[in-house]
Amino acid sequence: MLEQARLAGYQRMETPVFEDTGLFARGVGQSTDVVQKEMYAFVDKGGRSVSLRPELTAGVVRALIQHGRIGAGLVKVAFSGPSFRYERPQAGRQRQFHQVDVEAIGSPDPATDADVILVGHEIFRSLGIDVSLMLTSLGDAECRPAYRERLLEFLRGLGDRLPAEVRARAEQNPLRVLDMKDPRVRELTAGAPLIRDWLCAPCKAHDDTVRSLLAEAGVGWVDAPRLVRGLDYYTRTTFEWQAGALDAAQDALGGGGRYDGLSELIGGPSAPGTGWALGLDRTVLALERAGRLPEPPAQLQAMVLPLTPAARGVALTLVRDLRRAGLAADQPYAERSLRGHMKAAARAGARVVVLLGDDELAAGQASVRDMAAREQGQVPLDAVAARVAEIAAGPPDAGPPDPDDRGAAP
Ligand code: HAM
Repeated sequence: MLEQARLAGYQRMETPVFEDTGLFARGVGQSTDVVQKEMYAFVDKGGRSVSLRPELTAGVVRALIQHGRIGAGLVKVAFSGPSFRYERPQAGRQRQFHQVDVEAIGSPDPATDADVILVGHEIFRSLGIDVSLMLTSLGDAECRPAYRERLLEFLRGLGDRLPAEVRARAEQNPLRVLDMKDPRVRELTAGAPLIRDWLCAPCKAHDDTVRSLLAEAGVGWVDAPRLVRGLDYYTRTTFEWQAGALDAAQDALGGGGRYDGLSELIGGPSAPGTGWALGLDRTVLALERAGRLPEPPAQLQAMVLPLTPAARGVALTLVRDLRRAGLAADQPYAERSLRGHMKAAARAGARVVVLLGDDELAAGQASVRDMAAREQGQVPLDAVAARVAEIAAGPPDAGPPDPDDRGAAP
């Protein structure tokens, strides 16, 4: 994922796992579930309220402000790391989860929205996961307040046909009512006014440009006029990638949008920005469901087997030399039959097995076995690393090695 971001000019960045609680309260928004219910906030020994980060964007913008990187042109950053939300754990919803995050800060240009979306699109394409890009615009400080009033009026008009908690939510943040999953609320709000009909001319032009750029680049989307998302900082372009194959509680693999007011909200200069975060845990689930989770690469290139107690010191020296030569090498650290050792080496994915028995020790040599070619030869101890490197660089494994076959020395 990060490689796709690197190819698009995003630089690696890291931010702290915890920050001042006020950063998230102001940035993510007081009225959001994330801040009201899901933050791991605590008081540290200095009496300060700090929180484990519930997301990465606020910390990125805080760091860029603090280090004077805002206002110096477009900054494109990408990184991955854990975030924390106190939610009810279930498949695809953890209290510590991992995100990959991409942010482009410093430009109001709709082309930067298209750029961040394109990076995500290429990631899903390279992973081979089928996702829908749900796309909308949430307007800005010009047009959203009037729309918000209009929507609130509509929701109030429904009176007590709406459950009490939904009415309370409407008073705090009426937009959030629109993306509630409860079918009764959906039905009652089917005729609610939609922001797309209330966008001011600059927001409408921005949205049109994003869509036409995406269309030209071959990125498809689904118009999602009820998409709201759970963070308050969004303005204009807002989107989510949904995987149809997962349950509704975890079908959002990622999402993001533009946050032109965030820097000022947290005390920085004006700095328009846009970006997204993908949930790694959910992406892995989606890969699993699609049968596309790749096999982990083989861990070891060489397994060194001391076949007599006297060979243990030589084996330790050999693994040291192999590692110094840049080859992943290990030994079994367990008493087993030779057959058991060969099986364990095959399980560990070792391409080469280095055998140290009495005969080898007496000759100052080791038997080096190519597990794929099933060929074995004796090599002086100080030439083992070179021979292993030669085999490891050769053509890949021809098939599963046969653990029963120690093979005859040529
Ligand atoms: P978000 O939609 O809150 O956006 O989270 C992004 C992704 O993180 C979700 O789509 C989901 O895959 C994953 N995720 C969220 N909560 C959990 C959880 N409890 N367990 C597992 N996965 C989870 C943001 O965080 C914004 N900061 C994105 C952004 C970046 N907007 C602009 N820039």
